[in-house]
Amino acid sequence: MVMIDQRRLPLKEEYVTCRTYQDVACAIRDMVIRGAPAIGVAAAMGVALGVAHAAADKLDDEFERICAVLARTRPTAVNLFWALERMRKLYHTLRGRPVAEIRDRLAAEAQQIRLEDIAINQAMGRHGAELVPDGKTVLTHCNAGALATAGYGTALGIIRAAVEAGKKVDVFAGETRPFLQGARLTVWELQQDHIPATLITDNMAGHFLKSGRIGCVVVGADRIAANGDVANKIGTYSVAVLAKENNVPFFVAAPVSTLDLSLASGDQIPIERRPDEEVTHVFGTAVAPPDTPVENPAFDVTPNRYVTAIITERGVARAPYTESLRRLAAAAC
Ligand code: MRU
Repeated sequence: MVMIDQRRLPLKEEYVTCRTYQDVACAIRDMVIRGAPAIGVAAAMGVALGVAHAAADKLDDEFERICAVLARTRPTAVNLFWALERMRKLYHTLRGRPVAEIRDRLAAEAQQIRLEDIAINQAMGRHGAELVPDGKTVLTHCNAGALATAGYGTALGIIRAAVEAGKKVDVFAGETRPFLQGARLTVWELQQDHIPATLITDNMAGHFLKSGRIGCVVVGADRIAANGDVANKIGTYSVAVLAKENNVPFFVAAPVSTLDLSLASGDQIPIERRPDEEVTHVFGTAVAPPDTPVENPAFDVTPNRYVTAIITERGVARAPYTESLRRLAAAAC
């Protein structure tokens, strides 16, 4: 399994080859690959890779070990657990089949998840493009683009679809401290597509939201609770509050696999804490005194009252989210 190394972009375009499921787990944990849907696709492929190499006489035990290792990589993006569950369900239906068939079917399922993700993002783009104001700037945070998915992107998919529909939009990308997904990945990705992108630091968001220049905010999500509270990259909450204060619509783009209706509210969403060095160092250079105490939550939770709409591949959900999200989750694709 080959993936672009997102830690090196945009300075270097390098690829990492994962030969074992443990390699895939390391790639997810170390952010070689990141973004909720991409993590889900990688995990599904990790399962297929693990089963391809597992001892045929201990397949059940090995299967659970593979899932457990992959599940321990990143706790917030629910797409990871969704993908593992989908692979587990298929595995159980294949019990008693020849091992070669089980391996082939799991590999095919992982590919299917990848292809479906692209189609899902394109459908989300079609629903979301209508909501993007023409002739204005779209503010986004982190990277919810092709890099964060199997292709096309969620938030950036909506921007792509708006451009494809003939809307004249440009993008402001918040740099997204500390890992700089906005500066490094979103700007790079939009430049590949010739969509005008301007980089701002995170603390400039309020200034530009007040200026009248921003037509809407569009971000992705790592997990959305039943009441519409949204966990996404740290800093999203601040942008959402500033958007509401300035009457700018705040849209969240996410596939149905990002919904976690088992959680009543965002308070129950586990928030990943990442290494101190991501905050104390920039590209390996210390920017704080040695031994400085650090907090590094990778995500925050935006309460549903700040969310204008949640755009999924099945349509657009609006408040009250407990009903609208449940309806979308139950709807046929
Ligand atoms: O820590 P990351 O880079 O995996 O965080 C990514 C985000 O927060 C994205 O906005 C989210 O996963 C949606 S990606 C389509």
